[in-house]
Amino acid sequence: MPQEFPPDFLWGVASASYQIEGAVTEGGRGPSIWDTFTAQPGRIKNGDTGAVACDHYHRYREDVALMADLGVDSYRFSLAWPRILPSGSGQVNPAGLDFYDRLIDELLAAGIKPAVTLFHWDLPQALQDQGGWESRDTAYRLADYATIAAERFADRVHLWMPLNEPVVVTMFGHAVGAHAPGRELGFGALTVAHNLLLGHGLATRALRAAGASNIGIASNHTPTWPASDSEQDRAAADAYDTLVNWTFADPILRGEYPDPLITAAMPDTVADDLEIISTPLDWFGINYYQPALVGEPGGGTADSPVLEGARLPEGLPFEPRTITGYPTTGFGWAVVPDGLREILVTFKNRYGDALPPVYVTESGCSYPDTVDADGRVRDQERITYHDGHLRAVARAIESGVDVRGYFAWSIVDNFEWAEGYGQRFGLVHVDYETQARTPKDSFHWYRELITRGR
Ligand code: BGC
Repeated sequence: MPQEFPPDFLWGVASASYQIEGAVTEGGRGPSIWDTFTAQPGRIKNGDTGAVACDHYHRYREDVALMADLGVDSYRFSLAWPRILPSGSGQVNPAGLDFYDRLIDELLAAGIKPAVTLFHWDLPQALQDQGGWESRDTAYRLADYATIAAERFADRVHLWMPLNEPVVVTMFGHAVGAHAPGRELGFGALTVAHNLLLGHGLATRALRAAGASNIGIASNHTPTWPASDSEQDRAAADAYDTLVNWTFADPILRGEYPDPLITAAMPDTVADDLEIISTPLDWFGINYYQPALVGEPGGGTADSPVLEGARLPEGLPFEPRTITGYPTTGFGWAVVPDGLREILVTFKNRYGDALPPVYVTESGCSYPDTVDADGRVRDQERITYHDGHLRAVARAIESGVDVRGYFAWSIVDNFEWAEGYGQRFGLVHVDYETQARTPKDSFHWYRELITRGR
């Protein structure tokens, strides 16, 4: 398969600070909204928290050695904003910058290119206390933080991403409250989307001004399938697509919101803000997990039953359904490799030449992996998953989408947000009692693939 990829295709793995670092009170780190949220009873499965996680803060050398053994070209990780700015703004914490300095140097010494996300959801609690992403000010604080990060690391970072998945922060964090900070604003969360996007644009400019280059985003996207051919289901799927995909990509790639109703929900400054939000990017990153099947409200059928447990706000013009007829992951997510080709091609068709080169900044699956008596982790399903998704990327490249790399989510099993440690996404198994790392069969498979690709 690798010969179908361009020779400079970037093979990568990904992670995020709160999901792996632990050491939440060490090295001068301030509290984040995820420390607060995980401390609230009933928020997270089993009451899990990221307090220790994979202890990567102390074991980063071992983790980089694993990546070196894996042979990846690049490692995507996030800086913890509250490690660098414990109060979100103002006083910089030198120990926080030093930690990422060591990590970056360790990666470079191993021949691995650092790909840095600035905000992968662990907002400093001090900023949440001032309104968090409901406040426009937070966008400016992200830009200040971007300047600090670029001044220190721009000389060594290969790819920059101000944001990870603004749609998930908006919907899970602020519309339905399943993620930190647990707000339940329904459509009121559209302001949050706007502030995140504004922050993205301001941070992109701040990064460049401080000498960083190669700037993109890691944005979650999902091909949207109508539950049936009926006009009602097609209209419902369209509404979902507009809200979940294009509200987050059009402002960046076209300088506008996809629907006048959405524009009308935004602040008076929307026109000027869109100028900033559409600051050209060097590349665009897509995170893909599964398609969405969507029908008219109240119309679930045996072929497309209503999705359980979605905790949606009242009065939505659509209803998410369960995709049937595909294998599912431990999370219950449908495994649809061709959905990745579909969303990549949809982006190319929608934006044409306005679409910069693309990276798949995340793709992955969770299974309840265990270490067998002989020390192996037999995760054939994960191999099948990544193999299928990489073939889908190859087909997208064949149809003219300029895809430059693929980051498997994730290098190690880690803290899976509201699901705690129950869902394992890693190429490397983590025993949370002992912190022992065991490369899974998928790790060895990925290494083979990368080696053959070179
Ligand atoms: C996020 C990751 C998360 C993964 C699996 C993405 O939404 O960026 O942090 O672990 O999906 O749910």
